[in-house]
Amino acid sequence: MKKVTKAVIPAAGLGTRVLPATKSMPKEMLPIVDKPAIQYIVEEAVRSGITDILIITNRGKGLIEDHFDRVPELEGRLTSGGPEKEKILNDIINISHLANIYFVRQKETRGLGHAVNCARSFVGDEPFAVLYGDDVIIGEDPACGQLIRAYEEFGRGVLGVKKVSAEAITKYSSLKVEPIHDNYFNCTDMIEKPSPDKIMSLYSILGRCVLTPDIFDILDQTQPGAGGEIQLTDAMCTLARREGMVAVDYTGTRYDMGNKLGIMQAQVEVALNHPEIGADFRNYLKSICASL
Ligand code: UTP
Repeated sequence: MKKVTKAVIPAAGLGTRVLPATKSMPKEMLPIVDKPAIQYIVEEAVRSGITDILIITNRGKGLIEDHFDRVPELEGRLTSGGPEKEKILNDIINISHLANIYFVRQKETRGLGHAVNCARSFVGDEPFAVLYGDDVIIGEDPACGQLIRAYEEFGRGVLGVKKVSAEAITKYSSLKVEPIHDNYFNCTDMIEKPSPDKIMSLYSILGRCVLTPDIFDILDQTQPGAGGEIQLTDAMCTLARREGMVAVDYTGTRYDMGNKLGIMQAQVEVALNHPEIGADFRNYLKSICASL
């Protein structure tokens, strides 16, 4: 079985739920304390054994490319800043060495499935991970790596899933699942943005999957679905019905950086554990909470 060393990060959405912040700024570049969301995602992929990453971008996302590039002027200034600037200098340089990062443009915003289909030639005939560009997952054991381990065990496509509330699931996807063992399930059907009468279970795909290249021929045939977009879930549904997929209820906390509340939850929880500002932020938050 081929190892999973490639990952695709779709980051070509319009981010309409976070306007006006995302009018000219890609939502993937929104910071969580001091790092843009997409850097957390790239770091998770690298910790999972990924060496090559394709980021799907669109117009106005040049900032993402700049972030993973070297910046000689800035590095020069930090070098002459003495020992106290040395750590940040190393951090800045390391960003450009995290992985081999490639970019391709999705020329029209036609949905997540359409975005993933832009990765066909990068992927070739290897299995690959997909990390949704607005889902940051923080945890000891990287979520992407948990899915890769399931792929290595079962040799089939893998979905990263979590249980969501009955109200929330209509905005996500719903899966038909049966337990395999521990946090592994067999998934044989799914639906994107189900109406309440179509809910199959409260398990939903949240932010990560591992796919085989079979998905590309299916994507070519996938018609626009919910919201008029070519949905990755619809293509994965064909795969699940055909050969079954494995759903992994991964450990780690997922933050939805595509909506305002998710962004604030990420900020607060990461700030509380931040080595530099964690203690001060905790005191600040306690004083605020006392006055609520
Ligand atoms: P979303 O469903 O959150 O879409 O995409 P969006 O357009 O970014 O957000 P809203 O609804 O307008 O606020 C989930 C992931 O798929 C990517 C997004 O960048 C995000 O990481 N995506 C979505 C694409 O790359 N291309 C698309 O055509 C749609």
